[in-house]
Formats: sequence, C-alpha cells, structure tokens
Amino acid sequence: MNTYKIAVLKGDGIGPEIVDEAIKVLTSAGKKFNIEFDYSEGLIGGIAIDTVGTPFPAETQSICENADAILFGAIGDPKFDNDPTAKVRPEQGLLAMRKSLGLFANIRPVAAYDSLLNLSPLKENIAKGADFVVVRELTGGIYFGEPRGRSENGATAFDTCIYSKDEVVRVAKVAFEYALSRRKKLTVVDKANVLATSRLWRETVQAMEKDYPTVSVDYMFVDNAAMKLILQPTYFDVVLTENMFGDILTDEASVITGSLGMLPSASKGAKVSLYEPIHGSFPQAKGKGIANPIATILSAAMMLEDLGEAFAGKAIRTSVDKVVAEGFLTSDLNAANSRTTSEVGRRIAEMI
Ligand code: IPM
Ligand code: MN
Repeated sequence: MNTYKIAVLKGDGIGPEIVDEAIKVLTSAGKKFNIEFDYSEGLIGGIAIDTVGTPFPAETQSICENADAILFGAIGDPKFDNDPTAKVRPEQGLLAMRKSLGLFANIRPVAAYDSLLNLSPLKENIAKGADFVVVRELTGGIYFGEPRGRSENGATAFDTCIYSKDEVVRVAKVAFEYALSRRKKLTVVDKANVLATSRLWRETVQAMEKDYPTVSVDYMFVDNAAMKLILQPTYFDVVLTENMFGDILTDEASVITGSLGMLPSASKGAKVSLYEPIHGSFPQAKGKGIANPIATILSAAMMLEDLGEAFAGKAIRTSVDKVVAEGFLTSDLNAANSRTTSEVGRRIAEMI
C-alpha cells in the first residue's frame, strides 16, 4: 500500500465544493488501486485573510512543504475586488505560494472533447483535434521583477521584467520533457523582436536544442501565437513561454475547447507540486451545487500520474470520458438535463 501526504487547500468560492468531489474520486481510486491518502487542510486566499489576516499563512506553507503533493481549489472573492483600499488581496496568497514553494513551471493542457465541440466559440472543424500543453514560467518575469512601484510624485509607475538564463533553462527542460512524451514538437513563444528578455529566452532554448535532437523546435512571436491559437489550434503540441505571456495565452487557449470547467493544471518546482483547475473561484455559483468538478478531478488525475500512480490516474480519466460521453454533466455542459456538482463527482467515483 502506497501512502501519500496531500495538502488540501480549498480556498474561496466554489473551491471547497469542487475539491470535495476530487477527494471523493481519489478515495474511490485509492480503494481500487490500493493507495492511501493522508490529507491535511490549510487556509489560503480570502478565507485565510478573514480567519487569520493573511492570504498565505505560515502554517499553510509548512503543510505544503511537508506534503507529497498539493490539491488546490480556487481563490478570489469579489468583496476584495471592489475595494481598492484593501491592503491584502487573496491573489497575493497565490503569488506568495508560487514563489515560496518554487513552483516555476505551470503546465496547462488543453484538449478538445469531440462531444463538446458544439460549445466551442470556434468553428467545430477548427477546434476538433486540438490537443496541446502550455508550459508557462511561473515565478519570474514581470510578475516578480524588482524594482516596481510608483515615482515619488505618483505620476509614473514601473514594473521590471527580468529573467536569468537559469530560470529559462529549468522551465525549458520541463517543456522539452513534455514534448518527448507527446508529439515531439515545441513552440517557444516570445517577443524577441522587441524585448531583451525574449532574446535571452530564444538564445537559451536554441542552445538546448542539441540535447533533444528528436524534438522539433520553432519560435513564434506572441502576437502571432495569439492569432494562431484561434486560426489553427491543432498546430500546437507543447508551447513554452514566460510568465505574463503564458497568463494571457492560457486564458485564450482555455476557451478553445468550449469547456473551461474541464481543464486541469499542475505547477511544478524543485520539490512538491501543486494541482488545481484552471478556472477561478466562480463566486456567483458558491454553494449552489452547479459548479463543474471535472477540472479539479482531472487535476487529481494529473497528481496521481506525477506521484507514479499512472493506472489510478488513467482510471479517473477513463471515468471522466464516460460521464462526458453519456452527458452526465453540470449545467455549463448540459443545460437541458443538468446534474449537480456532487452527482457528477459521485458518478465518476462510482465508475472507477
Ligand atoms: C492565473 C491567474 C493569476 C495569475 C492571478 C489570479 C494572480 O490569473 O493563475 O492565471 O495572473 O497568474
Ligand atoms: Mn490567468
């Protein structure tokens, strides 16, 4: 029997509901594949601000550091968004967590389900077959660069985009490895015609190409990539990009399949990795039982695969495919005959 320590950070909005369904599914997979999970819950985001005054408490950090993996729901609450004087915001918890746990590679897979193509904002023939992974650098660039702030008289503001070669190499390795396990095609997205940091990225990845002779690498400017993503999403296999470009492109990419509620993600670092749905805390749906739990359930599948429990991860994916095929889904995907969050979770758990 393998036992894993899992840090559970449910967060805000629909976070608690969707994480509960993922745990239901993990329990079922654990029974079948003889895996035990030892869960420890930690506070993060708005709920952490309300309870202990800070969005990423030291106790949560230590729970994460002592875990084999982190399962994360969502953070964010409109009461902070609408208060420009708020000194602390839930998002600071997320950024602090990424930085302090060294989660430098954010993996966002995007895959179209044939039976859901009618929900895509793209024409079906364009979205069909889209299947790619974005590897976004997560702890560097303009999100964290110093100096940042306002001039003395407040009339100008500045942020710093900074990258070191080492930061590029470590995330590029992750992207090359993903490419090796897939269709062996890597597209590096940058703005090397304008930015010095992008030229460093390009030069650094170019020098690594010889270590991965079977991977074909191309380089694309970010504006062009934004266009290509909707003109021909099937062009991409693995996309590697810096923090801010990755933030923007993954929101764009996430809707291609017509189902934001289906997309999982992983954030990896030197040690413990974190798994979370791509979507946010969807506060309007909180407590209504309408949130789609599948993105979180698939995040749990990614977690198992990375822990070395490939069969258990696969069993979850197969069960998800079945509920999608039979249309046993929440209202975002099947408005005419919708099921609740916990009905969908239970169904997937039972199918395992
Ligand atoms: C994301 C989010 C975060 C980001 C926000 C909430 C800080 O948009 O995970 O993509 O910009 O990284
Ligand atoms: Mn984002």
